[in-house]
Amino acid sequence: MPAQSMDELVALCKRRGFIFQSSEIYGGLQGVYDYGPLGVELKNNLKAAWWRAMVYERDDVEGLDAAILTNTKVLHYSGHEATFTDPLVDCRSCKSRWRADHLTEPKCPSCGSTDLTDPRPFNLMFKTAVGPVDDGASKAYLRPETAQAIFVNFKHVLDATSRKLPFGIAQIGKAFRNEITPRNFIFRVREFEQMELEFFVQPGTDEEWHQRWVESRVAWWHAQGIRPEALELLHVPADELAHYSKATVDLMYRFPHGLEELEGIANRTDFDLGSHSRQQQELGLSAEVIDNRESNTRLAVQDLDTKSWFVPYVIEPSAGVDRGVLAVLNEAYRKETLDNGSERTVLGLKPHLAPIKVAVMPLKRNHEGIMAKAKAIKQALQALGLGRILFEETGNIGKGYRRHDEVGTPLCVTVDFQTIEDDDTVTVRDRDSMAQERVAVTDLASYVSEKLR
Ligand code: GAP
Repeated sequence: MPAQSMDELVALCKRRGFIFQSSEIYGGLQGVYDYGPLGVELKNNLKAAWWRAMVYERDDVEGLDAAILTNTKVLHYSGHEATFTDPLVDCRSCKSRWRADHLTEPKCPSCGSTDLTDPRPFNLMFKTAVGPVDDGASKAYLRPETAQAIFVNFKHVLDATSRKLPFGIAQIGKAFRNEITPRNFIFRVREFEQMELEFFVQPGTDEEWHQRWVESRVAWWHAQGIRPEALELLHVPADELAHYSKATVDLMYRFPHGLEELEGIANRTDFDLGSHSRQQQELGLSAEVIDNRESNTRLAVQDLDTKSWFVPYVIEPSAGVDRGVLAVLNEAYRKETLDNGSERTVLGLKPHLAPIKVAVMPLKRNHEGIMAKAKAIKQALQALGLGRILFEETGNIGKGYRRHDEVGTPLCVTVDFQTIEDDDTVTVRDRDSMAQERVAVTDLASYVSEKLR
């Protein structure tokens, strides 16, 4: 069973060093979080799993890591300056601000007053000034999605790789949105990360590719430990689609606070490449693009038979890293009552996501032989390249097991007197079954690799 409440997860995340409120010693910064020693490992593991599936295990995707600071023109022609807004209402009594579409009744959630302003659009993009002079000309945006950098680099990637349709460009990186009401821990925040793929296809094949990507992404989330019954597909109604989308399927996950979007998979047609292109009239675009007189390039490909230029359609699976971290943490969290009546908390994370893969524990802290052997084992396991192997020298094995259960470490290896005096074996303890096995040190590398696979 996943966590019963968000509070349980928030408490575990703070206690064990997964996630902290940012700038907390100065009262915090709302909607901004920092990842601690275990959080950074979990997050990196989730991103690495995505990159493996999207780039390394496919033969039709290239990677990109573009800048966060973005020329305002990019976000003008993408449509974000005009339409990337949420409806905002002000409470005239306590001066607080709310997203109109999040209010369940026309009442201020803070003071209860019904004296609210009419909703008005609020643009979510963060602005900054580039260079020492803060005038209008130096304005830049922090990107609100990683996608635009992929579109404006489309021709560079195409020229550098000679790719033919269909092919994709993948990117993981920060995005910023000045959310009116950030909430639910790392679910809705102002600074977050996205894992986005823009998959360019021949117009006419877009609907089939859209369907394929929905299936592929659902399967990927299952492989990260999300139970099938915790994930639902939502076909976004036409009147709620983003300005660029012809069709969007949201993958909805049962977060502790309710069923909400984990990832969106959109058919963005030729809207983005078309909006960033010059000579739009000649390209026979299907979408109503933004009239562009400023771009110096044509983001199009040539039909090899007819020699005419056309703009590819794009299918976009776009997942939030932070929402992904929250989902896998929630799925993995469980409390168990043991035979002796005591309780243990376990994070049953998939081994590839676990922040620590193996904890190596010497039984006695002040025993030179045991310590030296344990250190050598830690180094040998670390060299396997499986992820973080922790040398844990507290000397209290029982407490160590409990702590590692709680942070999801799949295996604990204990080095004791028998190891050094007798038969060169260690105790390997399994997080889920709690079974303990004696394993020869010479077999340990293959045993651990097999178990973590
Ligand atoms: N490029 C398309 C795009 O950005 P989106 O539905 O606005 O689409 C994609 O965002 C994903 O990014 C969402 O499914 C969600 O996982 C994540 N996301 C969006 N806004 C977020 C926020 N304020 N906090 C955390 N994650 C967010």
